[in-house]
Amino acid sequence: MTSFDSVKDLVLVAGATGGVGQLVVGKLLEKGVKVRVLTRNAAKAEEMFNQRVEIAVGDIRQPATLPAAMPDVTHIINCTGTTAFPSERWEFEQSPNLLEWGITFLNPKSSQAKAKNSPEKVDAQGVSNLVEAAPRNLKRFVFVSSCGILRKNQFPFSILNAFGVLDAKQKGEDSIINSGLPYTIIRPGRLIDGPYTSYDLNTLLKAKTGGKYGVVVSTGDTLSGDTSRIDVANACVECLLYPSSSRKIFEIVNQGQRLPVIDWETLFSLL
Ligand SMILES: NC(=O)c1ccc[n+]([C@@H]2O[C@H](COP(=O)([O-])OP(=O)(O)OC[C@H]3O[C@@H](n4cnc5c(N)ncnc54)[C@H](OP(=O)(O)O)[C@@H]3O)[C@@H](O)[C@H]2O)c1
Repeated sequence: MTSFDSVKDLVLVAGATGGVGQLVVGKLLEKGVKVRVLTRNAAKAEEMFNQRVEIAVGDIRQPATLPAAMPDVTHIINCTGTTAFPSERWEFEQSPNLLEWGITFLNPKSSQAKAKNSPEKVDAQGVSNLVEAAPRNLKRFVFVSSCGILRKNQFPFSILNAFGVLDAKQKGEDSIINSGLPYTIIRPGRLIDGPYTSYDLNTLLKAKTGGKYGVVVSTGDTLSGDTSRIDVANACVECLLYPSSSRKIFEIVNQGQRLPVIDWETLFSLL
């Protein structure tokens, strides 16, 4: 087990204002780790994290905004994402009317092209931009991907991938793997628990999964099911402590009986 050097180590969390990202920040702060968040919305992050984190304003689609977030960063945890299906979060050039929404759903490829924050822009290009901007001596790049990357033609993942989210996540994974940086790629199932919208740091620090199911990890993309955002966030942080999770890609779902304490060291040793 390695521990954080609280003087030297600094974790950059991208997507920190999202469901998993908020919990990652809470968990890092609980462990006394220095955190910088990369956000498009500084006011939202300030309100959320009570001035307990450094804030860097940036957008992973815009490479020029990323270098300013990187000085002294030792680890990156990337929890960015958009919706799998067209929504306002895709940031269409013009808000579609009812007919255009219909056309959008009938023509997945052209809808991606018209959207400014589609999976292709965020999960593929954005992740690649973040990898390019990362310090070359980074200790770990953690990426929240998705179950189904290797089963895109099988139900239900064929439906999930109708607008290319799994294709885009796979491109993001490939950029990380090919970068030469030490990485951990975490593929959750359908996310449950949160997002927590109270923007109250104390709520985040106390967040506990209501689920009674245990944590199961595996490789080779065979698992399916629900995954607690809290367990994903814990996996993102705990993997930094264990060299056995470096250069590993694993799926994580909730199944079986939940033990009072999750033994991450043993889980990672199984990969
Ligand atoms: N939902 C599921 O069932 C499911 C299943 C498997 C995997 N996943 C993946 O799990 C991860 C976490 O999901 P979640 O639901 O907890 O996330 P979320 O609440 O959707 O949060 C997404 C985060 O990404 C940020 N973001 C979006 N576009 C960005 C951009 N262009 N530049 C910088 N930041 C950007 C958002 O920031 P703003 O606040 O600025 O918008 C937000 O902080 C995502 O990668 C998702 O794809 C989800």
